Amino acid sequence: MNLNEAKSKLSKVGQEHILKYYDELSEIEKENLIDQIDLVDFSVLESISNKDSATRKGVITPIEAMDLAEIDCKREEYEEIGLRAISNGEVGAVLLAGGMGTRLGSDDPKGMYNIGITKDVFIFERIIANLMEVVNRSGSYIHLFIMTSDKNHTRTTDFLKEKNYFGYSKDFIHFFRQGMAPASDYKGKVFMEEKGKIACSPNGNGGWYSSMATNGILDTIKRSGIKWLNVFAVDNVLQRIADPCFIGATIAKNCSVGAKVVRKCSPDEKVGVMCLEDGRPSIVEYYELTEAMINEKNDKGEPAYNFGVILNYLFKVEDLDNILDKEMPYHLVEKKIQYIDDNGMIIKPTEPNGYKFEVLILDMIHLMDSCLPYEVIREKEFAPIKNRSGVDSVDTARELCKLNGIEL
Ligand code: UTP
Repeated sequence: MNLNEAKSKLSKVGQEHILKYYDELSEIEKENLIDQIDLVDFSVLESISNKDSATRKGVITPIEAMDLAEIDCKREEYEEIGLRAISNGEVGAVLLAGGMGTRLGSDDPKGMYNIGITKDVFIFERIIANLMEVVNRSGSYIHLFIMTSDKNHTRTTDFLKEKNYFGYSKDFIHFFRQGMAPASDYKGKVFMEEKGKIACSPNGNGGWYSSMATNGILDTIKRSGIKWLNVFAVDNVLQRIADPCFIGATIAKNCSVGAKVVRKCSPDEKVGVMCLEDGRPSIVEYYELTEAMINEKNDKGEPAYNFGVILNYLFKVEDLDNILDKEMPYHLVEKKIQYIDDNGMIIKPTEPNGYKFEVLILDMIHLMDSCLPYEVIREKEFAPIKNRSGVDSVDTARELCKLNGIEL
């Protein structure tokens, strides 16, 4: 792309201000900016005007979950199926670690956060330790695919290398980068991070499979005979990864995807809840639940929308392939976005000042034909670290680790 082509691309999308400081840039900065303009997909900004249609849902009805009692009755059978799949190399794990962790407020990738008290205990370390339990039990290493973003790739790969992958076999660790999207103010005017750089951020956790495809990782998946991918968030330090019983149950029920869920602590808890939307699996956000839905009961007399997702899913690879070319909606996420103002000054906002654009993994669930919501015990499997203190924080995660006999 040359300067004239860049001007033409920008004028079509009303973003001419991106070249405001062009003449002040060095030759190399000019080149980088033109390359960035070439690469950036400005169509994501259209989701600002389509805001309402993107969030509109179909008809929501309850979905049945496999609860703890049912799992316990069949535990042996499911574990056997799951362990067999793992030993046959049919299960891979995908760690979503491309997020910015802005609420935690650390400059490093979230996985590098040290939650230790008397010794170092990094989030990545806890995750690998959890995965190693299954490796030891099954006698087989599990391929671990780690999604990073341009913002944290080098620090993540360097850190894990320096720590010798916390004892995991490096032959089974694969990194890939997710896509980026421009960030804008509330009117859709793209922010500039520097005079010669458009502010871009990771484009959400929903693009992981297509990013694997773009990065050539699907070849590894196919070559290794992986049929199931367990996708999980970096920030849950009690995360059970490649859990044999969960894998076995999803296979036995012949579902396209399994979703680990926890019973809600209260009917109005702020979690995404598993449901059916127009008869297909879906996740309804807490603020989309009406009063009637909150109070609705199932045959057992329990709340009908009672199971919240914890970002731990098991996807059938064959079905993921079928949705690869399906478009996913971009969601607008209000964030504090650093930018340079009209006078070329760097502004670090203290309040949200615009949108980042993200595709979300929960939209992938709706593209799947069938889903098994699989109940797990919250105190044993869910210790998310979103904030530095308060709810879902380092403090609450430490308490939960202690409860589970994990030394920190
Ligand atoms: P969150 O939604 O908590 O976002 O991510 P975040 O970026 O980590 O944190 P905040 O909102 O800025 O404070 C849930 C999971 O999805 C991953 C995160 O790394 C985390 O494991 N994620 C999120 C990505 O991999 N890429 C993204 O673009 C966003």
